[in-house]
Amino acid sequence: MSFGERIFLPYPRKITVMSVEEAILLRRSYRSFRSDPVNIEHLALILWSAYGISDPVNLFRVSPSAGATYPLEVYVAIGERGVVDSTGFIPAGVYRYEPYTHTLNPIKYGDIRRELARAALDQIYIEEAPIDIVVTAIYRRTTRYYGKRGEIRYVPMDVGHMGQNIYLMATALGYGTVAIGAFNDDEVAKVLGCSKEETPIYIMPIGVPREYRKIDFSDIKIVIENNRKKLLRSI
Ligand SMILES: Cc1cc2nc3c(=O)[nH]c(=O)nc-3n(C[C@H](O)[C@H](O)[C@H](O)COP(=O)(O)O)c2cc1C
Repeated sequence: MSFGERIFLPYPRKITVMSVEEAILLRRSYRSFRSDPVNIEHLALILWSAYGISDPVNLFRVSPSAGATYPLEVYVAIGERGVVDSTGFIPAGVYRYEPYTHTLNPIKYGDIRRELARAALDQIYIEEAPIDIVVTAIYRRTTRYYGKRGEIRYVPMDVGHMGQNIYLMATALGYGTVAIGAFNDDEVAKVLGCSKEETPIYIMPIGVPREYRKIDFSDIKIVIENNRKKLLRSI
């Protein structure tokens, strides 16, 4: 496959065996990744979990959005040998996720991970991860209905919902991620090649963590039990 072709992602389907409560328990921010590529089936499911369609009638998305205005755009920066399908590696570059067709639209050729990390205070895990999801907002879509409230409340809330979906699906598939908000907006926009009306909001590197966090519900039970004992002693 050469860069420039639209990628028709595998249809969303049930893959994971992890329960929601396990994914919530195991979710953590990971900042160190192996170089293992992300499988296209997994990337497709993560992108669908971010902003895919879950309502065939109204075309509503998996993430709630104020007034269903859907102000966000989702990009994935694929590194060299970052994503693999049955025929080989997907060409490195920036792709925009198009929810209605569940496709990746090629935007910019080449591996931008290093430049992206530079634009984000040299947070090197952005370069280390095989892929980075970048979320941008087109505020106007929401502010035209809700004014300032749309900008300072609703759009950030929408991004939070999406971010958590990405965290949880990445966890359930055996990957790790971290929500990154510290970066230079203009530089990220330039590196990404998005339109002028878009503001970058999140960068989420995704990859197999170098070390998985081990935790069980029994560990949480112990902490809660101890806290309860302290509470009972204090009253
Ligand atoms: C809005 C927001 C911005 C964040 N920005 C960064 C960031 O720029 N760099 C980073 O390493 N982590 C960032 N984080 C991740 C937090 O540091 C992390 O969620 C927090 O330490 C709690 O850890 P946990 O996610 O493992 O529960 C951000 C999280 C949020 C919600």
